[in-house]
Amino acid sequence: MKNRSSENTIKIIKTITEMKEVIKKYKKMNLSIALVPTMGYLHKGHLSLIEKAKENNDVVVVSIFVNPTQFGENEDYGVYPRNLERDSCLSEEAGADYVFKPSVEEIYPKGYNTYVKVEKITDKLCGASRPGHFRGVTTIVNKLFNIIEPNRAYFGLKDAQQVLVIMKMVEDLNLSTEIIPCPIIREKDGLAMSSRNVNLTKNERQIALVLSKSLFEAKDKVKAGERDLDKIVSNIKANIHNEPEITIDYVEAVNMLNLERIKLLEGKVLIAIAVKIAKVRLIDNIILEGN
Ligand code: PAJ
Repeated sequence: MKNRSSENTIKIIKTITEMKEVIKKYKKMNLSIALVPTMGYLHKGHLSLIEKAKENNDVVVVSIFVNPTQFGENEDYGVYPRNLERDSCLSEEAGADYVFKPSVEEIYPKGYNTYVKVEKITDKLCGASRPGHFRGVTTIVNKLFNIIEPNRAYFGLKDAQQVLVIMKMVEDLNLSTEIIPCPIIREKDGLAMSSRNVNLTKNERQIALVLSKSLFEAKDKVKAGERDLDKIVSNIKANIHNEPEITIDYVEAVNMLNLERIKLLEGKVLIAIAVKIAKVRLIDNIILEGN
């Protein structure tokens, strides 16, 4: 990492013009730029991405934008938690240099009409139950890449399908940003960290533990020699069905490359779960490897 003779306190940038000017300055200095795209309400999962970005880059930009185009009509856009002051402090502590926090009008001005859509892998898993979701994700990520021109962008495997979709977009559109996938950060009891966890009651949070417990159980079964993924998926579904407050969106075992369903463990397999507890949608997953 090169030395940068700049201030320590984090800067909050709200306009695309100013963000581009800042980036231009660093590009001229030949410094490497990292982007950590988020929707805010940061937790240790987000912070792990910022910390990793800081380790390997000169300048770290955290974007905070609750992106309306990736939410369906009846989804939680309106109640998605927001707190810029808290997020800025946490970003700074984790090593970020800039927070990019544009308004919705700044990103999608009146008359906005251009979208980026990756096909096929976006029809599966979360894409099947959230039509248009990934079109919103790839559109905003592409716009952020154009504004910030990051050398590297950091994404969490908590959203494993999102990582694959973005990697496909980068490949297909010949983008120059390197995508760095990062491991899932969990609470001590196993619950995958998520901004949405704050919308769970204490009881619902307890119930939500069935997701990570079932995934760890699957891992143990594979370690003990189980290769039948149908059995593993049925077992996870049975565990979740024991909790009447939960409705399953999907539990699937898929090939890590194309997200096609598979029955026998071979190569890298993604076991992915999406459920709803009351009004809160939760996802979790684990990557298992056969021999
Ligand atoms: P958001 O849900 O805020 O997540 C921002 C990033 O943090 C994503 O890459 C996500 O995978 C990662 N992340 C969330 N929880 C994590 C955990 N427990 N461990 C590790 N990483 C975790 O994902 C989005 O926002 C949006 O779709 C976005 C990419 C910003 C586009 O709007």
